Order: sequence, then structure tokens, then C-alpha cells
Amino acid sequence: MEGISKQFADFYANKDISFDVRAGEVHTLLGENGAGKSTLMNILFGLYQPTAGRIFYKGEEVKIDSPAHAVRLGIGMVHQHFMLIEAMSAFENIILGDKKQRGLFIDRAARRKEIEALSALYRLEVDLDAQITDMSVGTQQRVEILKALYRGAEVLVLDEPTAVLTDQEAEGLFDVVRRLTDEGKSIIFISHKMREVLKISDRITVLRAGEVVRTVARGEEQAEGLARLMIGRELARSDYPHAKNVGDAVISLESVSYNKESKHAGVRGISLAVRRGEIVGIAGVDGNGQSQLAQIMTGVLAPDEGQVALMGKPVGKFTVKTFLGERVAHVPEDRTHMGLFGGMNVRENILIKQAQAESFSAARGLFLKKDAMRRYTDEMREKYDIRCDSLDQEIRNLSGGNQQKVILARELEDKPDLLVAVHPTRGLDIGATRFVHDAMIEARENGGGILLISSDLDEILEMSDRILVLFEGEVMGEFDGVNPPIDEISLALAGNRKEVAV
Ligand SMILES: Nc1ncnc2c1ncn2[C@@H]1O[C@H](COP(=O)(O)OP(=O)(O)O)[C@@H](O)[C@H]1O
Ligand SMILES: [Mg+2]
Repeated sequence: MEGISKQFADFYANKDISFDVRAGEVHTLLGENGAGKSTLMNILFGLYQPTAGRIFYKGEEVKIDSPAHAVRLGIGMVHQHFMLIEAMSAFENIILGDKKQRGLFIDRAARRKEIEALSALYRLEVDLDAQITDMSVGTQQRVEILKALYRGAEVLVLDEPTAVLTDQEAEGLFDVVRRLTDEGKSIIFISHKMREVLKISDRITVLRAGEVVRTVARGEEQAEGLARLMIGRELARSDYPHAKNVGDAVISLESVSYNKESKHAGVRGISLAVRRGEIVGIAGVDGNGQSQLAQIMTGVLAPDEGQVALMGKPVGKFTVKTFLGERVAHVPEDRTHMGLFGGMNVRENILIKQAQAESFSAARGLFLKKDAMRRYTDEMREKYDIRCDSLDQEIRNLSGGNQQKVILARELEDKPDLLVAVHPTRGLDIGATRFVHDAMIEARENGGGILLISSDLDEILEMSDRILVLFEGEVMGEFDGVNPPIDEISLALAGNRKEVAV
């Protein structure tokens, strides 16, 4: 693609973009939401006509005037939102619009053989007779890929394919991608997740605000450099200072195990401490014991073995109340079910923890009390930038980012000694994410100890003073948060225990 521009009304979604893909490579388009990635690919797939610029396919200039034309050339695309017909089976979806059809009859058995062969070759496991509605998104995605391959795709565009996948499913997709490139096919991969981009790409083209910032080859830039290219220096947010005044442990775990036979819902022999004034990051692929660890550290679960101490005192009774009493705050992994009371209004959700606080329960008459509560919640709305029509509206009607801010207001305002934050920015946009991160840094500066559990390695790298990697319920290693060794951490994430010098 050469000098491609695309104008919508008076706005340019693509500006003079040049982009090329070689046979057998994974070329990633990296950029924030709105950078113009999908637009560029929709042009390549014949869905949009460029305002300016030229496209060459195998050396020849082409005018791709429709998706059918793109498919004829050998270009396939798996869109951000799948385009399958839900009421049909995988098989029917794949052969839909099949140009190999002659006359009225389709040789279904031959088609099926062909699709099964493709499925086996690339290990795209799909039950061809299952209805799309009954499939997981991961399977639906495999159907989309099979469909593109069946139609002869040599260049395959995957538009944010991992956005809808679990980490395990994403790994499976990467294996498929590798097999495709081994067979000489080209992949255009779209993502804004740094870790996977670094892992899978031969080249990376960074787009920002519709323009190419740079194209880099594998290994030329690390996560930080790419992030900077992607968001622009002025917005770079990966430069939080590291902890300076680290104090005593607020919580410590000594050989803690829970449900230790389970690789995915238990922990085994975990020892760790979180001290005042530091953020300890727990990295790991989802489902390696993170939930259980968080629940033990907030009193929801009692460990089967090992000791837990809060503020230096062994915990006797594992109840949420005990932990609240020791000033442990919790930003839970599932904010809608665990963190908030959906049917209650915003004010009530902010106050739930404070309900027993003296300032409100002082015998000053019901009206004064109500007044104080209103003033307090108004203040919180301001301070935590909670955007809503009214604090009297039900919390369930707020956006995810604003719900999370309500939780922060409730959990952080009285400066907890320990904050256990689990996937605190999952599903949030950049602005809300930044807000949550700022709030965590502030909690640390206020002398709290923070445990950050996240499967987003970028977040862990950006925020943590120390990093522990969890795999199948065990700690694979501990790493310094200052200049963290990303390669070693990646190995640990895959279950390789860090070599410890003796
Ligand atoms: N059909 C359209 N009409 C008007 N604006 C559009 C259209 N498609 C995309 N845009 C705008 O172009 C910009 C780039 O969008 P897009 O290519 O979808 O970005 P990305 O895929 O990188 O998130 C966005 O600001 C988007 O709102
Ligand atoms: Mg897009």
C-alpha cells in the first residue's frame, strides 16, 4: 500500500500511509483505538476506496473494488466483529458464497474433506456441524480463519483477534499463526497489546492518529519504545517513579497453600510480603491461582497450610471483617458482582464501607447525617472524577471506568494500609486506566502497601516496584521492577522457574 489516505467528511482516518507485507511474515499494525488500523485494512479488503494512494499485489497495481475482489486476489480478513451467520453451522458458513460451486449442486462431501484437511493442517479445531450460536468466541474465530483459508487466502488480516480471547485461547491462535507463516502465508496482525505484539511479529508498523510513526523489525524496539511510539511522548505513562520509602511488611505470607492439587484454582507454597510504600506486581496468565491468592489476602478464603500475618500479627480468623479491621482495601476482579451493588445508587456504593464511621453515625440528627453524607459523596465525585448524571442514579448504569472510580473512592479514601487490586483496569479505556494507576501510586505514596494482580504484563511492568510471577499456583521467580528483565519474566510466565544463584 503506497501513500494511502482516507478521508471521512473533513477528517482523515488514514494519512499518506505506506505499508507492505512480505510472504511468510507477520506484520503487525500497532496503534491505539482510533489510530486508523481497521480503516487501512478495510481499504485493503475492498470495503473502502482510498481517497488517495495505490495498492500493489504481487508487484502489480490493483484497484480492489470489493471484498469479493480481495478474496479473488488471495486476501482474507477476520474482522473485529465476526461476520458469521449465527443460525447456521460452521460448515455452512465456511462454504457460503463458495465460488467453486458449479450449477445447483455442491459436492458437500468433497468440500467437507477439503475443510477438514485445512483444519488438520493448521490445527484449527472446529466442530463443523455445530451451530455458530453454540460456539465460544475462540471457536467462532477459528471458523472465520478456516473460511478465509478455504477461499484461498494467502494474506490474512486479523483485526484485533485477541481482544475477545482468553490468554490461553490467544496462545492457541499464535500457534495457528506460526503454522500459517511456516506455509508461506502472510499475516497482518492488529493489536495494541505490547506483549503479544513483541512475541509474534516479524515487523511492526506503529500508527498514530492515522499516520505511520515508524516500521520496526523484530527486536529493534522493546515494549517501552513501542509504547512511546504508539501513544506519543507527551502521553507516555510508563514513567511512574519507583518506590523510595519502603517500610515494614503490611502483609506477609509464609508457605501458604490452598487447594494445592489444583493447577488453576489453587496456590502452592507461596511466600511473599508486601511492605509499606511499594507496589508488588503479580504477573501471570489468568487462572494460575490469582483469584485464590487475592481471596486469601483479603480474608475471603482461609489457607489450608502456611501462615499469614497482617501488620506483623498472625491472622487468626480469615474473615473479610478481620481484614477490613486491619485496614485492607480490595479492588476485586469482578467489579459488577463483587465490588458494587448494582441496584443501589452511586452515593450508597461510595458509603457502604463508611456506613459505620463515626463522622456519620454521630448523634447529630438524621438530617445532619444525611447532609454530611451528601456532602461527602459530592466531594468524592469531584475528587475521583466520577462522571454520571446524578449520584442518585443506579451504579449499574455507569460506564466501567466510572464504576471503578466509585470503588477507588470507597476503598482508597481512608488511606488503607494494604490494597489488593485485581485486574483493576481490565476493560477500561486509556483515560480511566491512567486514573486508576495514578490513584494506586498515590495510595503507595500515602504509605500503603499495594498488591497488584494483573494478567496484563504491560501494566505490571509499568506499575510494579517488585514483580512476582505466578504459574500453576506457584511463584516462578521474583524480579526487580526497575529495568525488569522482560525475557526472563516471559519465560517465568510460561512456567520456567527462575534460576537462583546459590
Ligand atoms: N465510516 C467512518 N466514518 C467516519 N469516521 C470513521 C469511519 N470509520 C472510521 N472512522 C474514524 O476513523 C478513525 C480511525 O478508525 P479505525 O480505523 O477504526 O481505528 P482503529 O482500528 O485503529 O481503532 C476513528 O476516529 C474513527 O472514528
Ligand atoms: Mg479497529
